[in-house]
Amino acid sequence: MEEEYVETAKTGMSKSQLHEPCIVVIFGVSGDLTHRELIPALYALNCKNLLPKPFAIIGFARRDWNDDSFRQEIKSTMKKVDECGEEEWERFANNIFYVKGNFNDDYSTSYKILLEKIKTVQNEFNIPDNILFHLATPPSDYGTIIQTLDAASLSKSGTGWRRVIIEKPFGRDEQSARELDNAIHKVFTEDQIFRVDHYLGKETVQNMLVFRFANPGFEPIWNRNYIDNVQITVAEELGIGTRANFYEKTGILRDMVQNHLLQLLCITALEPLVHYDASALRNETVKVLNSICKVDLVKDVFLGQYDDGVINDQKAISYREEQNVNTNSFTPTFAAIRIKLDNWRWADVPFYIRTGKRLKKKQTEVTIQFKATPHLMFPNIKKKNLGTNFLRFQLQPNEGIVYTFMAKQPGAELQLQPVNLNFQYDTAFGISEPPSAYQWLLFDAMKGDQTLFPHAEWIYKAWSIIDPIIKKWESEPWINFPNYASGSWGPDDSISMLLNDGRHWNI
Ligand code: BG6
Repeated sequence: MEEEYVETAKTGMSKSQLHEPCIVVIFGVSGDLTHRELIPALYALNCKNLLPKPFAIIGFARRDWNDDSFRQEIKSTMKKVDECGEEEWERFANNIFYVKGNFNDDYSTSYKILLEKIKTVQNEFNIPDNILFHLATPPSDYGTIIQTLDAASLSKSGTGWRRVIIEKPFGRDEQSARELDNAIHKVFTEDQIFRVDHYLGKETVQNMLVFRFANPGFEPIWNRNYIDNVQITVAEELGIGTRANFYEKTGILRDMVQNHLLQLLCITALEPLVHYDASALRNETVKVLNSICKVDLVKDVFLGQYDDGVINDQKAISYREEQNVNTNSFTPTFAAIRIKLDNWRWADVPFYIRTGKRLKKKQTEVTIQFKATPHLMFPNIKKKNLGTNFLRFQLQPNEGIVYTFMAKQPGAELQLQPVNLNFQYDTAFGISEPPSAYQWLLFDAMKGDQTLFPHAEWIYKAWSIIDPIIKKWESEPWINFPNYASGSWGPDDSISMLLNDGRHWNI
């Protein structure tokens, strides 16, 4: 299996390399993801002159729209239409089209209309037969859409390429992920399949690799001799909003831990690559997962569900009071897990990962906590008062990298204080915030570069780590929910987990 993805994955390519003209067909175009992420990302690429020319978007959904009303609808939900001027938006919008249909329609109805629309747009704009399908639909529709694309003769081309982007979660467990992958492989080959984990597209996640491997100073100390522990926190203020139908079936373990948190762990822990390309990155991240020790479900896993509370001086309702949530729901909205890696570099270094909805504040951070200095030569300073060094990769808000170290406080007395070396995108690169993850994911998929997209092997392995937790929890929930107040940092047990190890969460 490993050999398969070494052969098929394309290598990392320069972002400046031009890609071929194509049409992006978005299924589920009336949904939140399209409005919030996909269209803004494509428009931002357009404004940076990074879209192929010519280029078009065709949306497919159930709503009763036509090309014009769809364009109006998109414009009304776009926050930054003026990013590169109203005129440019009009030019961009003229290349957006719409086809009305149900995902489970017969291939000879709406999918046939889609085929005809594609041909018309290709002829009108002189676009070669290259199509990127983006499935931004409920995961249960993926199989049907792919089969019907095939039946409608949309999945193959004699002259161009076909690629398909699949959103997470990819399956509900290892077995369903394998079944889904088998179904997709009946129609598409591995180099045509782009499985999304948008965390891999985040600038700071890519910067974690650059920081460690493009600078000589940190890689030599990136190991158990110098690092005391690693903490990964993905904290959200928001609750589940209007997503109860999705979330009740998914929960935090499937929604966040199996994908985003394990990816962050892999990016932190992986071994140096020989070349930065898809097959090498995929191989190394799978190796990290393979080295994860069996998690003790009693001592290493703490789950939670939010109760009511106060966030930013606003009252927040409990999870069970959210619209369309079962009033006795046992769906977890918080997870904290202690993970150990059984390998030479990381033996005995705990990785504490946690994520939750309705926490005190939105903050996503990977913190490397270094060991304290072995000997303290300064008089009158007790070692226990000496802060250790931290390296923080801040993913949000305020993306950047902060290194905290000890410095002498000015004055006659020798007093030490922790201070920060700070890299922020605005001061370093003059941009208020870095480009969104989806810009790079769409850009790379249009080029056929799979570097930032996980391979199926990674996904199966990640499920095999999380499945036992989900299985035990779903068969015998072992904690009384709700067990943390909205606006807190999660259940007390998740805080005690570190205190019992003589540590504490750094945020
Ligand atoms: C998504 C989850 O994958 O990631 C959401 O489905 C979550 O529940 C979101 O809110 C968080 O993404 P980000 O980029 O805001 O950290």
